[in-house]
Amino acid sequence: MEEAFMQRTATCGSLRAADEGKTVVLNGWVHRDRNHGALHFINLRDRYGMTQVVVDDDASEALQKVAGELKLEYCIAVKGIVRRRPDDMVNPDMATGEIEVKAERIDVLSKCDVLPFMIEEENNAREDLRLRYRYLDLRSGGMQKRIALRHEIIKAIREYFYKTDFLEIETPTLIRSTPEGARDFLVPSRIYPGKFFALPQSPQLYKQLLMVSGFDKYFQIARCYRDEDPRGDRQLEFTQLDVEMSYVRRDDVLELMEDLFNDVFRKVLNVTLPAHFRRLSYHDAMNTYGSDKPDLRFGLEMHDASSFAARSTFNAFTETLAAGGAVKYIVAPKTEGHDYTRKYLGELESAAKIYGAHGMAWMKVENGTISGGVSKFFAGMEKEVIEATGAKDGDVILLVAHSDWKKCCTSLGAVRSRLGADLGLIKDGYEFCWIIDFPLFEYNEDEGHWEAAHHMFSMPQVEYLDTLESDPGSVKGDLYDLVLNGYELASGSIRIHDVELQKRIFRICNIPDEVSKERFGFLLDAFRFSPPPHGGIAPGIDRLCMIIANKESIKEVIAFPKNTAALSPMDDSPSPVEQKQLDELHLAIKE
Ligand code: AMO
Repeated sequence: MEEAFMQRTATCGSLRAADEGKTVVLNGWVHRDRNHGALHFINLRDRYGMTQVVVDDDASEALQKVAGELKLEYCIAVKGIVRRRPDDMVNPDMATGEIEVKAERIDVLSKCDVLPFMIEEENNAREDLRLRYRYLDLRSGGMQKRIALRHEIIKAIREYFYKTDFLEIETPTLIRSTPEGARDFLVPSRIYPGKFFALPQSPQLYKQLLMVSGFDKYFQIARCYRDEDPRGDRQLEFTQLDVEMSYVRRDDVLELMEDLFNDVFRKVLNVTLPAHFRRLSYHDAMNTYGSDKPDLRFGLEMHDASSFAARSTFNAFTETLAAGGAVKYIVAPKTEGHDYTRKYLGELESAAKIYGAHGMAWMKVENGTISGGVSKFFAGMEKEVIEATGAKDGDVILLVAHSDWKKCCTSLGAVRSRLGADLGLIKDGYEFCWIIDFPLFEYNEDEGHWEAAHHMFSMPQVEYLDTLESDPGSVKGDLYDLVLNGYELASGSIRIHDVELQKRIFRICNIPDEVSKERFGFLLDAFRFSPPPHGGIAPGIDRLCMIIANKESIKEVIAFPKNTAALSPMDDSPSPVEQKQLDELHLAIKE
């Protein structure tokens, strides 16, 4: 039987000098194609690498003709002999750079239309074009490496859990709508008019139910869906490593994660992490770094300015402090090649304003004293300010005041982030840190009630059990975030496993008993049947892969992501559907 096509006997990344003299068949895409008269050089590419194919000037006319007609990205089969390149032609940058394949036969397996963009190591086309032709974009060296890296990371995670008693259990993706914080994606039921499934925002309730069922160590690489605006580190659908355990305390969960990430980073990157990660309370993280996901690859800590700001003649400071607010500062260090011009200070101020600051004050340190900006309001206190801040000549003291401590912290935190990047302070490497002792509740100003800061199933720390209702704002939860290089990598908590306590939390979050019974009845029901104490966590896989791949968007590690406008330019989804489909689902579109 004649073969359908010449099937490869080697990949484009596999041949070395030791293969000299072998006859091989390669399959792949024409990456680059150079003709020197009758001499053709073809860089043939597949997932494994690149091999130089040569059509010599003594090749048959037929072969010359095929070679002459090749175009970029044609998919071809090449049969030829491996030969060493002349010494001066060896390419040390290519794994196969010692050899080339002298072609004897080339078959075009399929032709390629005019390319919307060149396939490069990193494609330079604009994002929508890359996403419209994602299958081509994925051919680039960079995307190929990142998708393979993602595979390695997930494999290492699974291997870690397979060594232990954890069971991998799938939970449903058509579930009851039980919003967890974001908006649910809804799926209309054909069989039950007017009723809907929701896609899970996470397997949260199901993993808790699995604890009730006795699967005391569970994990899942789980797809999650949230109808929220996509951002660099956010997609409508994403993947979590979801973990839950029975009979654990907080530190058991933290230590499991430390061990897991040590294992994964060693396997995937050959990087040794500290056995234990630094822990910061939510309060200290906000107070010192202005963020609950601080990037600890650089210092630039924030400090309290009240000791000297209170005695200045600057009303914005004195009034803020008198009203119980906060004034904080950061010392922007003198940096070679970097000027703190008014324009630049204006940019820093704009960064602060995004987070609610009314402004950012500054003063320069020169000749052992302060000058410019708000320095005139510190007349007679110059030495004291310099001593208190430890600022040196060439440094600039940046200050933010706000009646609200949190806004003061986050505004100056934004300045800190900007400075870290602009001054090149961010060190290479991986800085993990736990944020613990989060407030359990946050006040929703728009809706005028308290809501869960994480989700409603997290346990309050025991010392607050008596004051949940009387002082929700001060309650700390048994919840934790894992932060890596300034990103929230994972969130988790010890859960409530007591019906009455769970109901109290629902009520504080403005969910009356009837509503909680209707929405979460199955969980409350399950809690009647001896639930074990339990807790868990869920690291985001996309974010983990993005950070390891050193990228700033999770789109770079997802094969087929949505764009920033929450749609897919490739298949043009979301799309209208036929009237018949709507009818079957008992749906009508409101104009
Ligand atoms: P949370 O909502 O904090 O917790 O999510 C956990 C982690 O999932 C990742 N993540 C996302 N990644 C990409 N796109 C998104 N839209 C997105 N949303 C979240 C983040 C985040 O830290 N059920 C709880 C976990 C638990 O308590 O066990 C949960 O889902 O990395």
